[in-house]
Amino acid sequence: MQYQVGQIVLARVSGIQPYGAFVQLDESTAGLIHISEISNGFVRDVSDYVHVGDEVYVKIVDIDESNHQVRCSLRALSARKSRRGRSMNAKGLLPSHRLGFASLRDALPLWIKQTKEKMTMITFDTSHAFLDSDFSSWQGKVTEAHNALHAHTCAGADYTGWVEWPSNYDKEEYVRLKEVAAKVAPLADVLLVCGIGGSYLGARAAIEFLQGLWPTRKTQVIFIGNTFSASYIAQVLEYIKGKSVVMNVISKSGTTTETSVSFRIFKAYMENTYGKEECKTRIIATTDKKRGALKSLADHEGYETFVIPDDIGGRFSVITPVGLLPLAIMGVDIDALMDGLAKAEKDFGSDDLQTNSAYRYAVARRMLQQKGYNVEMLVTYEMQLVQLAEWWKQLFGESEGKDGKGILPDSACFSTDLHSLGQFIQEGNKVLFETLLLVKKPQRDLVFPSDENDFDHMNYLAGKNMSWINEKAMEGTLEAHEKSGNVPNLVITIEKMDETNLGYLFYFFFKAIAMTTLLNGSNPFNQPGVEVYKKNMFRLLGKPEN
Ligand code: PA5
Repeated sequence: MQYQVGQIVLARVSGIQPYGAFVQLDESTAGLIHISEISNGFVRDVSDYVHVGDEVYVKIVDIDESNHQVRCSLRALSARKSRRGRSMNAKGLLPSHRLGFASLRDALPLWIKQTKEKMTMITFDTSHAFLDSDFSSWQGKVTEAHNALHAHTCAGADYTGWVEWPSNYDKEEYVRLKEVAAKVAPLADVLLVCGIGGSYLGARAAIEFLQGLWPTRKTQVIFIGNTFSASYIAQVLEYIKGKSVVMNVISKSGTTTETSVSFRIFKAYMENTYGKEECKTRIIATTDKKRGALKSLADHEGYETFVIPDDIGGRFSVITPVGLLPLAIMGVDIDALMDGLAKAEKDFGSDDLQTNSAYRYAVARRMLQQKGYNVEMLVTYEMQLVQLAEWWKQLFGESEGKDGKGILPDSACFSTDLHSLGQFIQEGNKVLFETLLLVKKPQRDLVFPSDENDFDHMNYLAGKNMSWINEKAMEGTLEAHEKSGNVPNLVITIEKMDETNLGYLFYFFFKAIAMTTLLNGSNPFNQPGVEVYKKNMFRLLGKPEN
């Protein structure tokens, strides 16, 4: 290749993606300016900086000889003066869109096709995380772990069925699931979802992510089976009186105590209210295909049952009937969710650290831990994402927290929690890094009103969108935490809060946690530590030994 790292060249922008801009250096050499290399400031939208057809000076920062591709930076040139006789504007762009290669026009359709193929729905930005070391030095280890994961030979391989599930799910069961959901949904004023851990967190996260905290739908979802709290159980029992109830009990083992205790109580309530016969329609069990107490009970009572596949563990099971059934009953478009998953399976199917942002995230976490950061705070700016962070905490905590290793997953919703945790993050013990989970287009927006008297002195915001105000809070906070707080920030940005993006995001996190845990030398798919409390509890409860 005629180019060298460090060289500054004139290139033409051939495509814009959420994660960066593609440029063409000559007829056969394509380049990528990753979003983190666009500008020194926070870049929300690449097209605020460059457009297709622009001619830009770029600095070459990395070269992939075999694919004839180079990684370029605009940011690295921010202080560069213009070339003699050809003045550039503030973005480093030439005023004209002329380009010296006649054949570029002919090649454009091909570049657009290549760019589309590479299009992902998530951007991952490490430019606020003080990560000066080179990602490519991790490629060997990533490739090894990736191959083992995809060959189902890695640690915990028995639980890697989720990897191909988006393209390999049980299509017949899926159709039956939608039929059952359509049948019971009209019956449900309240949908009770009875389960704990991986058997409820995903559905809860998805419903709040998609429908918000105060939906005005006919059916309200209530999660039970996730606590021994008598006050909680009694309050739900009281609340559902007089309402038409449908219950989905979910347990892979079929023996989890919290779930079994609540299920017995609410099953008795429903049998008293509707009679055993009607409960055959109103109660649905999601459990193991053959084994476990719940499977025997459901078969005995004549309930409809759905299967949690043997090779998918609880915290990866939101993409199976565990999540899909409650979501379908709640009116979620699960086809779109599956589409997002399938797209993610394809987009994150390569071991290439340059393009696989799930793996870049996995590696960035390892780099940050090597620098001494042992806590990761997942930060959102949307109340609807609070439960998604709870789901993420289980996924990351149970997968990685073992063998005396791992990063403690924590979460916060800003700006709310800036008034509680903000002080610690800004000036406290430097144990944590933040991972921002941002949404490009909010589900809804509203305009801040003007007030004639302006006693509260808020008219300076009149006419502004609330989403803009939230965005400025985010930008100000990122700057404060990064620049004066010295807190590394990783930034994950999704397009919007819909089913497709959610399915995509679920899979992104699956891939990231599997990779980052394998890189840490642990089994991502077991959770031996959670048995210890159970043993003690069973002894104290006087549970008979089997
Ligand atoms: O991720 C896991 O495996 C756990 O969190 C389980 O989902 C949780 O313990 C519930 O188990 P079960 O579905 O067997 O009731």
